[in-house]
Amino acid sequence: MSKLIFGNWKMNLSAAASAEMASKVACAKDYGDLEVVVFPTFTALSDVLKATGGAPCAKVGGQDCFWETRGAYTGEVSAAQLKEIGCSHVLIGHSERRRHLHETDAMVNHKLKAARAAGLTPVLCIGESDDERRAGLWAAVIEGQVTKGLAGVNVGGNDQIIIAYEPVWAVGTGRACEPEAAREAHALVMNSIAEIYGPEVARQHFRLIYGGSVDATNIASYLAEEGIDGALVGGASQQAATFSALLEAAAAK
Ligand code: PGA
Repeated sequence: MSKLIFGNWKMNLSAAASAEMASKVACAKDYGDLEVVVFPTFTALSDVLKATGGAPCAKVGGQDCFWETRGAYTGEVSAAQLKEIGCSHVLIGHSERRRHLHETDAMVNHKLKAARAAGLTPVLCIGESDDERRAGLWAAVIEGQVTKGLAGVNVGGNDQIIIAYEPVWAVGTGRACEPEAAREAHALVMNSIAEIYGPEVARQHFRLIYGGSVDATNIASYLAEEGIDGALVGGASQQAATFSALLEAAAAK
């Protein structure tokens, strides 16, 4: 099965720099069984789609979408609008949006449904905070985020839903989660999904990836863990040297 390497460029690269990163790094070569998806800022999406168009390389996703399809929602971007220009994926409920923009599990659930209705593959981001881990609440928190995020979501056909386990304390901090702890969290997430849909559907339609301070030096240790299908990478995907080193290391695994 392919390994998923997703690059979250956040609000960091210009449109020109994003297009260059897409063409010169993500699409520089065939990375074998890696499925590479890049998530540029909205204003860079068209340029990145042009840069990747036709090449057997990276797919492109939005960093967020709104839950309504159209209407008077100034500043928002719908899932259908992302789909229209050629996006295949969208991040839903990233911890930075939960924290800075107060996105709730209910909002995340609406967005996930909108993404699926538009034909996008949602990447549902979950993960506990430092305080929650210290208080022994991490399992309850991530179970709650999975259950609420997926409430009322039916899966079938070719549907794929990706869950990114990103402990908040590991995102952008250089404090990566120990691979064994990440495996434990992934197993818990898969159990929660299996409780909702049954183990067969869970295995067939869901893929789980880890995020939080992943780079070329530690990617192999996550990919080696059972139940971890790839990584959502922020900082290390935003510079050509670190991103290409990461892709090489992941492809070699
Ligand atoms: P990081 O970010 O790799 O810089 O920790 C991960 C993310 O925000 O998805």
